[in-house]
Amino acid sequence: MTKRSSSISGFYKLSPKRRLEIVKEFANLSEDEVQLLQSNASLSLKVADRMIENVIGTFPLPLGIAVNFLINDRDYLIPMAIEEPSVVAAASYAAKMVRAGGGFHTSSTPPVMIGQIQVVKLKDPEKARQRVLEAKNRIMEKANSHDPVLVSLGGGAKDIQAKLIDTSVGSMLIVELLVDCRDAMGANAVNTMAEAVSPLIEQITEGHVYLRIISNLATERRARAWCTLPKEAVGGSEVVHGIVNASAFAAADPFRAATHNKGAMNGITAVILATGNDHRAIEAGAHAYAAIKGQYSSISKWEENEKGDLKGEIELPMAVGLIGGAVRTHPVAKIALKILGVKTANEFGEVLAAVGLAQNLGALRALADEGIQRGHMSLHARNIAVAAGATGDLVNLVAERMVKERKIRADRAKELIKELGS
Ligand code: MEV
Repeated sequence: MTKRSSSISGFYKLSPKRRLEIVKEFANLSEDEVQLLQSNASLSLKVADRMIENVIGTFPLPLGIAVNFLINDRDYLIPMAIEEPSVVAAASYAAKMVRAGGGFHTSSTPPVMIGQIQVVKLKDPEKARQRVLEAKNRIMEKANSHDPVLVSLGGGAKDIQAKLIDTSVGSMLIVELLVDCRDAMGANAVNTMAEAVSPLIEQITEGHVYLRIISNLATERRARAWCTLPKEAVGGSEVVHGIVNASAFAAADPFRAATHNKGAMNGITAVILATGNDHRAIEAGAHAYAAIKGQYSSISKWEENEKGDLKGEIELPMAVGLIGGAVRTHPVAKIALKILGVKTANEFGEVLAAVGLAQNLGALRALADEGIQRGHMSLHARNIAVAAGATGDLVNLVAERMVKERKIRADRAKELIKELGS
């Protein structure tokens, strides 16, 4: 079998139909899957009505493919659902630069999520804490009895932690269930277990349980990605220095770190959306992790190595699943996962970390060099032209003129439509 490559030159110049043919071949998509991706109603009202409450319609987003990703020596095509221009192009471009240095490398911790149980009204909080730790095995057995399938797959509750916290309404005991969720995101499994063990915890502590819920700060379930790029691939030493300085800026200043991290999350969230995962959970985890040392900082770091080449790394919580929820019910999410071709939730999380690092690199390279507006503006100009009523060839003609004149505005688009369309 010939090795499939994600390095597809000129992909952006092709028509959507031709691009889909290439993806079909790469991911072995069926004729039905191709039809569904091309249809205007890929999510039927019937399915949508089963997914959430009070449905009145659906909300389509563009689905793009980022190319060039080489991760642990394997080629990936990355499906991204996003409304923002330039994100897919920047990810593809950054992945191309990283490819020149051998691609991305990744690692991850086991898929362990934390479920929190809040215990209040305790006579002796420290004694209650110790009793919980002494009853660890009983609590874990009770938790595991509620998910025999997860246990049979090698997952389930693996440990218990108990901590006292001081709050505005007094001391509280927080019991934490550490649950290996295997290929699930885990919210359902963890919340079920947390609810199931609460009566036992009340009995052991003689306290009262209020909240029983997963924590989105999934510090036990992290993914890492790193890469080294030859300076020539990035655009030379000056650009390397610009990126290293941008990274230092983000590490030291929360105002910049928020934007720096948003850039990385542009890529991650787009893949999370395309695959039907919970993007709010991933965003919450990423930003909370960025502040874990007490000050909000960056989730990635870029340095120059002894040869003057650029080295980058990213690490963040990665609570993603391949089973359950919209991953299984949304027809396009299923196809997106097939295109991605990941076999486990851990592999999925690692690919996401690599996408985040690529997206961050794409943004920093542009910022450290020509700035991001040039690339951004041509797509933005096309959107303005369409919104002003341009169709067909006129879209590009109007957009190009507006970029050239540096007047990307609806009123100018309307004037140009009249002038160029007549
Ligand atoms: C825009 O969506 C993302 C950037 O602002 C990220 C960054 O500044 O690093 C370009």
